[in-house]
Amino acid sequence: MEFGIAWLASVLFFVLPSWVANSSPVLLGGAWPIDWGKDFFDGRRIFGKGKTWLGLAAGISCGTLCAVLLAYFLPGTEFAVWGDDAQNYVIGGILLSCGAMAGDLAGSFFKRRLGQGEGSPSFVLDQLAFISIALLFAWQAHPAFLTWENAAALIAASYVAHRLANWWAHSAGLKKVPW
Ligand code: CTP
Ligand code: MG
Repeated sequence: MEFGIAWLASVLFFVLPSWVANSSPVLLGGAWPIDWGKDFFDGRRIFGKGKTWLGLAAGISCGTLCAVLLAYFLPGTEFAVWGDDAQNYVIGGILLSCGAMAGDLAGSFFKRRLGQGEGSPSFVLDQLAFISIALLFAWQAHPAFLTWENAAALIAASYVAHRLANWWAHSAGLKKVPW
């Protein structure tokens, strides 16, 4: 595999639906907590007030829409070909979106168990949980693409993008904290 511009573009396009899924709840979510305000056995919230059904629905819809648009508008790239492969990519996009939301929820679950309040920073759980689970889900549809090299590049790129996006969302007044 050549690690050139074409490769970089293919990995970034591939992972984009999971980034869209992870970031759209900040703009569109915020209503109806997934845990309905309930506590876990340890007396702390199950997921917390930052994980909502509206955010979950927004993440899965926007991530999937992103995959559909990529498949439609970027014919000829390795993953976004309109036709049989596009269908496959849309399935991959749904898996990426659902995986991102599942990883994000799992991250919050563990943050609450560790006693970290909603919105507190956690290096592993904020930046790496969503992408790891998204890739694990997408691997079901794209095992050949998700080599160790590509997965490592995607996790690194996601970390950088997540930091930049949250810093931007904070300075734009969308998020209270820059992480
Ligand atoms: N959000 C949502 N539903 C989700 C995920 C996120 O509504 N499933 C919205 C919430 O308004 C949340 C914001 O997006 O506050 C930012 O998301 P995130 O950083 O993931 O949550 P935090 O509030 O930081 O909470 P946590 O500590 O659990 O990560
Ligand atoms: Mg957070």
